[in-house]
Amino acid sequence: MRLGFYDSGLGGLSVLKEFVGKFGSKYSYSYFGDSARAPYGDKSPEQLKSYVFEIAEYMQADDVDILISACNTSSMYLDEIDLSDFSFQMISLKNVMDKYFADNAAKYQAKRIALMATNATIDSGRYKNWPVDIYPVKCPTIVPLLEAAQLDAAKLEWQRYLNELPKDIKDVIIGCTHYSLLNVQASDYNFIDPAKLVLEQFSSSIFNDGMINYSKKNANTELDIKINFTKGSDEYLKLATELLDLH
Ligand code: DGL
Repeated sequence: MRLGFYDSGLGGLSVLKEFVGKFGSKYSYSYFGDSARAPYGDKSPEQLKSYVFEIAEYMQADDVDILISACNTSSMYLDEIDLSDFSFQMISLKNVMDKYFADNAAKYQAKRIALMATNATIDSGRYKNWPVDIYPVKCPTIVPLLEAAQLDAAKLEWQRYLNELPKDIKDVIIGCTHYSLLNVQASDYNFIDPAKLVLEQFSSSIFNDGMINYSKKNANTELDIKINFTKGSDEYLKLATELLDLH
């Protein structure tokens, strides 16, 4: 079985990494990072929907069986895109979060939860359906820094946004897959990371062991991972390799 992942650039590698770490060569993997058009966080809903449609066509041609939207921003609008002509199944981070909070609302009663995300994710307002008290925080400076391969500066920005949170907030949604790559240790917070939750939900879904694995690769052979970015300098690809860190 072939799994496809897409994002505006590097961010979705955080999701790919989780899957490869868990399933290894059980599946083959195709990653598409739309770095030429990153960040997605400042794009309009119409732009985001047309990008996803183009990526869906790419993934269909690449024979993926399941497409994982490793991009919170565009996943906010997936339900408005007609993908019925495509043969793959779709998993979106927004649906992952919908399910997470439907299942865990009681745990967060009487708490405020920060949603740290791109402008477009916050502006979509889709988080308002979650049965919890969300404190939205736009973090527009992080993705451009990461896409410019400035990892340390991106980490500092993440920390700055955290420092600016109201003191009562201890639960934080890492609402953009780019931020999941920053791996900043801050034990003061309970992080809720869709990039990790998607793996849990995938693992317990019908797509996992119940499915017949018809991948042509033998389980003992090397990983079969194809990664394509729409734009990338040597420095960018080096950072992508480091962030994926499969060793
Ligand atoms: N990594 C994406 C997300 O999860 C997109 C970020 C961006 O390009 O602004 O939202």
